[in-house]
Amino acid sequence: MLSTYICEPTNVSLKMSALFTGSNLIELPSVDSTNNYAQSLLRQENIFEGTVVWARQQTQGRGQRGKQWESASDKNLTFSIIYYPVFLSAAWQFRLSMAVALGVLDSLKALFHKNGREVDNLKIKWPNDIYYKDKKIAGILIENSVSQGNLSTSIIGIGLNVNQTDFSPELPNPSSLKLVLGQSFEIKVVLMSLCEFIEAGYLKLKANHETEIQQDYLNNLYRLDVSSGFLVGEREIKAAIKGIEPSGKLVLKKSDGEIQSYGLNEISMII
Ligand code: BTN
Repeated sequence: MLSTYICEPTNVSLKMSALFTGSNLIELPSVDSTNNYAQSLLRQENIFEGTVVWARQQTQGRGQRGKQWESASDKNLTFSIIYYPVFLSAAWQFRLSMAVALGVLDSLKALFHKNGREVDNLKIKWPNDIYYKDKKIAGILIENSVSQGNLSTSIIGIGLNVNQTDFSPELPNPSSLKLVLGQSFEIKVVLMSLCEFIEAGYLKLKANHETEIQQDYLNNLYRLDVSSGFLVGEREIKAAIKGIEPSGKLVLKKSDGEIQSYGLNEISMII
C-alpha cells in the first residue's frame, strides 16, 4: 500500500493515439502530489514507461522553486508521466524540459486551432511555463534521477488550468483554458491530447532531433529579445533574453550591454 493516496486508484484504459504514454493510466480521486505518487511507484516496482498518474484532486501539489501548486478539485489537470530517458546525458537534461514544454504547447495550439483561435500568444516562459499573453495556464515540474552520468528516471509533473475561473489573489497571474477560450473542456480529452503531443516531443528527443527542439523552443519563447524587468535576488534589472545555454541557463543582455547567464534559482522575470 502506498502511503500517499487516499482512495483506491482505478486503472482506466483509453482509446488514444499516443503509442505508450497513458496506456497505463492510474486515476486517483485524491493524492498529495502525483509526482510524489510516481516517486513511490518507482521505489516499489517495475513501472511501464509512459505510465501516467492522474489525480482529480491534489492536496499538496508542488511547483518549481519549492512553491505550492494550487488547483481546484476536479476542474484542472494535475498529472505525472514516468519516462526512462536513459539515452540522455544528465548534462543535457534541459533538452527534456524543452521537449516536454513544446509537447504541451503543441497540444494547446491544436486545441486553440480546433476552437478557431489564433495561437501566436501561446508561449513558453523560461524555463517551461506555458503562457497565454501575460498569464500562466500551465506549469511543469520535472524530477530526474541520474545513473552513471545519464538520466535514469524522469517524473514529468504537469498542472494545466482547464475549467477553473476563480483563483486565489495571491497567485501572481493565473489563467485557464476556460478563461481564454470561453468554454469548458472535458479534462480527460485534454489529458489524452497532452499525452500524445508530449510523447511526440519525447520521441523527437530520443531520435536526436535536438537542434530542431532547441530552435522550436527559442521560436516559442516568451519575451525573447524584448527588454523586460527581472529580479536578481532583491535587485531589479532591465535586460533582454538572448538565448539559452545547453545547461538551461537563461542568457541575458543587460541594459549596459553586458551578457550574463542565470540559473532558475538566481532570477525571475517581472510580469
Ligand atoms: C510550476 O509551474 O511551478 C510547476 C507546477 C507543476 C505542478 C504539477 S501538478 C502535477 C504534478 N504534481 C505536483 O505536485 N506538481 C506537478
